[in-house]
Amino acid sequence: MKRILSGVQPTNKLTLGNYLGAIRNWVDLQHKAESIFCIVDLHAITIYQDPKELHDATLGVAAAYLAAGIDPVKSLIFVQSQVPYHTELSWMLSCMTPMGWLNRMTQFKDKAGKDKEKACLGLYAYPVLMAADILAYKATHVPVGEDQKQHLEMARDLAGTFNHLYGEDFFPLPEPLIQGPAPRVMSLRDGTSKMSKSDPSDFSRIHLMDSDDEIAQKIRKAKTDPEPLPDSIKGLEDRPEAKNLVTIYSALKGISLEQAVVETQGQQFSTFKPLLTDVLIDHLKPIRSEMERYLKDPAYLMTILNQGREKASAICGPVTQDVKKKIGFLGISPR
Ligand code: ADP
Ligand code: TRP
Repeated sequence: MKRILSGVQPTNKLTLGNYLGAIRNWVDLQHKAESIFCIVDLHAITIYQDPKELHDATLGVAAAYLAAGIDPVKSLIFVQSQVPYHTELSWMLSCMTPMGWLNRMTQFKDKAGKDKEKACLGLYAYPVLMAADILAYKATHVPVGEDQKQHLEMARDLAGTFNHLYGEDFFPLPEPLIQGPAPRVMSLRDGTSKMSKSDPSDFSRIHLMDSDDEIAQKIRKAKTDPEPLPDSIKGLEDRPEAKNLVTIYSALKGISLEQAVVETQGQQFSTFKPLLTDVLIDHLKPIRSEMERYLKDPAYLMTILNQGREKASAICGPVTQDVKKKIGFLGISPR
């Protein structure tokens, strides 16, 4: 593992899913490899964002990265739209992307809704920009939640296509790192769909900034079934809501799902839910207060993001120039 890169969109408020499926895993990874964490605002606008909300959410994601434990000295934190090489490389890659690949992307199908003709070009081309984010840094590993696997496979395919056309081994083929005890946290209202920032119901998710009372209320209202918790993982198989809550419990407590099942077996939800609420509050409270502290000091956040932008440009600028030369563009001296 040489260089890892990942990103989160500044859309709405971050959820427990974003945290457990992505950001929390980055904190450990930053000690194992050079780490680059992007706030992907260009991806966010593939669906209309209110300008003020986009602005605030961008600072919110920066605050969440820091509050979760990303160290800005060790890792690079920056905003995608502030580094123009991403879009430049994205265009060049889009000219190597067969439409057939994009037609297979399930996220586009989900997000475009019923009337695909009305979906914008950016939403369709989204995975190409994501590939550019990764390849511009020659990243070797990409830690994401399970929902992003298909996009990553496309980034690998694009790296392969470029290498084939313009020079073997120019881009390393990026590997997905889908890890952690909760690679997919599900909605609290429906255990078969993922917890998402964009779900219309606020009760479907826990936000990192939710108050203790909001957390308690959302867990109290979370969908369950009438049975007590089972004594084996197998017993969770056809019970998606129960499985999700026990998975969240195990992920936050840092124990395996097996151990969590042993701890909770036989409990009614009326006993388990308050237990889960306490674990959630214990875990999220310090993150929330750190986020609040950072958000009171936007000048500090801007300093971190500016430093990140400079360091990011120093890596992906030369890679983009090399790509242009390989393609046959004139290029600019001195490179
Ligand atoms: P969302 O779907 O909530 O808008 P993003 O698309 O911005 O989230 O995803 C940011 C990161 O969080 C990605 O790495 C993604 O895989 C991860 N992620 C998002 N939702 C979940 C979830 N419910 N469970 C696990 N990981 C998730
Ligand atoms: N598409 C990712 C998501 O919605 C966000 C993203 C954009 C990303 N560029 C990336 C993730 C590059 C990893 C690497 O979650």
